[in-house]
Amino acid sequence: MKAALAVVAVWVGVSGVMGSIPQVKPTVGQVWPSPQMQQPNNTYMIVRPETFKFTTTGHDCDILRNATQRYMKIMFPDKGSRRSSIQPWSKTKAFTGYLDEVTINLMAPCEEKPYNDMDEHYQIKIDSPDAQGIGTIMAQSIWGILRGLETFSQMLIPDGSAFMVNTTQIMDFPRFGHRGLMLDTSRHYLPVAVLKENLDLMAMNKFNVFHWHVVDDQSFPYVSTAFPNLSKLGAYTERHIYTPADVAEIVEYARLRGIRVLPEFDTPGHTQSWGPGQPGLLTPCYTGSVPSGTFGPINPINEDNYKFLKDFFTEVTTQRFTDHYVHLGGDEVSFNCWQSNPNITAYMAEHNITGDYSKLEQVYITKLLDVIAHLPNKNGYLVWQEVFDNGVEIASDTIVHVWKGGSTAGEEMNKVTKAGYQTILSSCWYLNYINYGVDWHAYYDCDPTNFNGTDAQKQLVLGGEACMWGEFVDRTNLIARTWPRASVVAEKLWSAIDQTQSTDAATPRLEEHRCRLLGRGYGVEPLWPSFCEADI
Ligand SMILES: *[C@@H]1O[C@H](CO)[C@@H](O)[C@H](O)[C@H]1NC(C)=O
Ligand SMILES: *[C@@H]1O[C@H](CO)[C@@H](O)[C@H](O)[C@H]1NC(C)=O
Ligand SMILES: *[C@@H]1O[C@H](CO)[C@@H](O)[C@H](O)[C@H]1NC(C)=O
Ligand SMILES: *[C@@H]1O[C@H](CO)[C@@H](O)[C@H](O)[C@H]1NC(C)=O
Ligand SMILES: *[C@@H]1O[C@H](CO)[C@@H](O)[C@H](O)[C@H]1NC(C)=O
Ligand SMILES: *[C@@H]1O[C@H](CO)[C@@H](O)[C@H](O)[C@H]1NC(C)=O
Ligand SMILES: *[C@@H]1O[C@H](CO)[C@@H](O)[C@H](O)[C@H]1NC(C)=O
Repeated sequence: MKAALAVVAVWVGVSGVMGSIPQVKPTVGQVWPSPQMQQPNNTYMIVRPETFKFTTTGHDCDILRNATQRYMKIMFPDKGSRRSSIQPWSKTKAFTGYLDEVTINLMAPCEEKPYNDMDEHYQIKIDSPDAQGIGTIMAQSIWGILRGLETFSQMLIPDGSAFMVNTTQIMDFPRFGHRGLMLDTSRHYLPVAVLKENLDLMAMNKFNVFHWHVVDDQSFPYVSTAFPNLSKLGAYTERHIYTPADVAEIVEYARLRGIRVLPEFDTPGHTQSWGPGQPGLLTPCYTGSVPSGTFGPINPINEDNYKFLKDFFTEVTTQRFTDHYVHLGGDEVSFNCWQSNPNITAYMAEHNITGDYSKLEQVYITKLLDVIAHLPNKNGYLVWQEVFDNGVEIASDTIVHVWKGGSTAGEEMNKVTKAGYQTILSSCWYLNYINYGVDWHAYYDCDPTNFNGTDAQKQLVLGGEACMWGEFVDRTNLIARTWPRASVVAEKLWSAIDQTQSTDAATPRLEEHRCRLLGRGYGVEPLWPSFCEADI
């Protein structure tokens, strides 16, 4: 792994001298993220696009039909064939026949929508001893079938106008149930088409949670039916919004790919954009004894605000988003404004909260959690780590989202799990931080269970999320900056721990995967000097 870094250092100094020698030779037909178990064989079959088809022998449903049609297009795009044959080993392997059909065997009825800890196991057999000459993808759940289809599509190796596929058996399942990617649509608006493109890429990397940080200080693009002024007065413009139909479209698009949409409405901080549309919500800041005209976090002492939050979150969880969980934020609350406000000072004196504003934050969060606990769908929730750090009483099934500490977040993971809470990790996967050179090794070296703790504690680690905050990202660079760097996190969260120890071993596989995504039409950025067949 150090070698690749050294090479990059040379390029920085003397660009151009490497000529046309590819520094990283991509693998051929390797699956990303790496399957848990794959048995190779020394034979191969040929897939011919004109005759190939998927057939269904088990249960069937809309998600399955939609997926097989989608994967036919992914595997056999209409563009003219100019793929080269680059498989020297085909001369040493035995050809066993044409693979004209892959049978999909879903062994239990389809579930309607993806959920936390859903079953994603699947098996693939291509010309196996017990099923010679045929291919099968089988799973107990539709989610496993979706993952298996992605795997199969990655096994096809272009060979002239057809494809080779190695004979193999795969048994696969994810290491972690929560494999998320967070996007921020407040700092910059991201068009629905770009969010869908990102969902495509998530499915191609077996991510299963789109954590949607919908609103923040800068803008409020979410259209609420009950409180239309929030977006009318809080969005950048009346066109930089997500209507109920937009949200439904994204949730459905994600569902068909086995991806949950986890909405985040971060409070009481990060809420400047809520203010104009909901008078009384934010705390008026004071200069001396007069209001300064600026506003701070949500005003915790205005009882009307809890009624508003109840109605707002009821709409969010019953009319827009279908996931059981909602992310409540709770990070980075600034206390200056609360400190300046005489009503708040009076309230604190009256309630014997002496000087410690994190105690006031606790008052707010406690009341918010009471609102959430009484939502019609009894939703679960996630919070950023500060809520735990500040000692707020949270429900025992709360998921604490650890984001601070970079590569040294292990201490926090230890504390959170020692206290018995479930957790997900993001600290080491802030993809919005960029710098020159190869930066993905640090993502690959990070492991959510790498902390001092008992086995029982580690059981509480549900997974993690890559985060792409939006200050410097909009529709022009979201895809390129996120991918394939997020693919690295995807493999850490899916593959077995002993399969993800070496960046050296991952390098040629990642190169193939990047070229694969590029070939499928996505503008994913390069990781080092290289070329792909799909460049031209
Ligand atoms: C396919 O088989 C060849 C020859 O055994 C091997 O080099 C290649 O890595 C195999 N690909 C996969 C994805 O197993
Ligand atoms: C799959 O779902 C999408 C979105 O609902 C729809 O536009 C498309 O027509 C569906 N395709 C199939 C084959 O069902
Ligand atoms: C490998 O392929 C041959 C020929 O199809 C078959 O007889 C053999 O059982 C296969 N082995 C495995 C492990 O799949
Ligand atoms: C929305 O804001 C406008 C002022 O821009 C105000 O006249 C109207 O009463 C507000 N509506 C609601 C429902 O608060
Ligand atoms: C804050 O205090 C002022 C007077 O000091 C009062 O008029 C106002 O109603 C108070 N606001 C709240 C939300 O308590
Ligand atoms: C206020 O807090 C102090 C210190 O914790 C305690 O001694 C006192 O009894 C409290 N008073 C009320 C009214 O809660
Ligand atoms: C675990 O604890 C030991 C001893 O305190 C320390 O040296 C080590 O760095 C810790 N490991 C992690 C992953 O935090």
